[in-house]
Amino acid sequence: MPRAQWASRMGFILAAAGSAVGLGNIWKFPYIAGENGGGAFVLIYLVAIALVGFPIMIAELVIGRNAQASPVVAFEKMAGKDSNWKAVGWLGVITGFIILSYYSVVAGWSLSYVLMSICDFLEGKSPEQISSLFDNLYVSGGVNVFWHTLFMLLAIGIVYGGVKKGIERWSKILMPVLFVLLVVLVVRAVFMPGFSKGVAFVFAPDMDKLTNAGILEAVGHAFFTLSLGMGAMLTYGSYLSKKTDLVRASAIVCSLDTLIALMACLIIFPVVFSFGFEPDQGPGLVFKTIPVVFSQLTGGPLLAILFFMLLAFAALTSAISLLEVVTSHFIDKFGWSRKKATLIPGGMIFLFGIPSALAGSGALLGDWQGIVGKNFFDTMDYLASNWLLPMGGILIAVYVGWFAPKKLIKAEFHEGSKFKSLFVGWLWVLRIIVPIAMVVVLLYKVGILEFADPNLPT
Ligand code: TRP
Repeated sequence: MPRAQWASRMGFILAAAGSAVGLGNIWKFPYIAGENGGGAFVLIYLVAIALVGFPIMIAELVIGRNAQASPVVAFEKMAGKDSNWKAVGWLGVITGFIILSYYSVVAGWSLSYVLMSICDFLEGKSPEQISSLFDNLYVSGGVNVFWHTLFMLLAIGIVYGGVKKGIERWSKILMPVLFVLLVVLVVRAVFMPGFSKGVAFVFAPDMDKLTNAGILEAVGHAFFTLSLGMGAMLTYGSYLSKKTDLVRASAIVCSLDTLIALMACLIIFPVVFSFGFEPDQGPGLVFKTIPVVFSQLTGGPLLAILFFMLLAFAALTSAISLLEVVTSHFIDKFGWSRKKATLIPGGMIFLFGIPSALAGSGALLGDWQGIVGKNFFDTMDYLASNWLLPMGGILIAVYVGWFAPKKLIKAEFHEGSKFKSLFVGWLWVLRIIVPIAMVVVLLYKVGILEFADPNLPT
């Protein structure tokens, strides 16, 4: 059977953007920016997107399209069956497994807000009351498991349906709608009293607020938000035709992703500063603030339903890319049927997500927090985003930069591209800039290099 392919070029861009744009942009980025003092963190993140994320995205697409296979098999094909590089593929499969397990819990919150919106939860509530609803949800273990289950069933169902029918069709319609709704919310935020303070928080860098841990988190998030470092883009690239311009496609996906993350901040922080909330509220931030905007908008209750549905959908298009890596791995590597390769790993990810769903309630692994210092949910997120993805990313960069057959890489980069002249620059960024940047970040993290106040907790 020939390998499945995207139905159109636009279809690929939307699917890749669908993978990239997700909870990372709307849920995670604002809350970690809030915890890390805003501007300076945002600045590091933007630099990381441009200097590290963009070139690595091209690298993943180059490998994927050239090898026409999922990560492990792709590295086997390119580097040889016995080469150690295939470990990068395995690392990706494990990372995808971990990320999806807790990602589904957050997506579940979003589904739960759909139901709450339908039940008109904003009716007659003050901003404080609206924002405290999240705290109740967070500690309700059973409720979280319920929505986590529902979301995993949705993701499994779609990946089961295969690439074209499942993933592509819906992205084309719903992603643009999400974008339009965000524009509406930004416009509303402009008229809030805290808008200028919100803008200053996001865009005026105050380097003193940046910690070593914050730097690592900003770079780690660049990988997370662009779906890099674990072969998700590599896998999507494997369904690409030779006509696609990989450089252009990567530039579009990176820009869209960044734009949406910044728009989310431009909605959330004006609300924070207009209603006297704190920016460092942690994982509940988006759920505590955006509903407040709806409560002040004509037609707000209806828009709230739409918004949380779209957020859940954005999460779904990301979740399927995570699951697709695991599924296509079992198909390509072990010859499993798509059915089996979706159901068995999907079921295991679901089970592994249960301790994350119960993290807020402390019902399972309650001692985890005491031993590790973070609850199970936060530990998985920390491990995957701050360590596993950057590790995978740097290995991919080093492989493409130094070890892959240069002729092959060059030909693949050139294929279908108007930006052929960028090849040499790109290669040297992968060879030198990316590894150096990552090593510096690592040295910051382990405390060999210091930034700002050395007494700040890292
Ligand atoms: N990028 C998605 C987001 O921002 C999450 C995601 C999907 C992801 N696929 C991935 C993260 C692969 C890392 C690797 O929400």
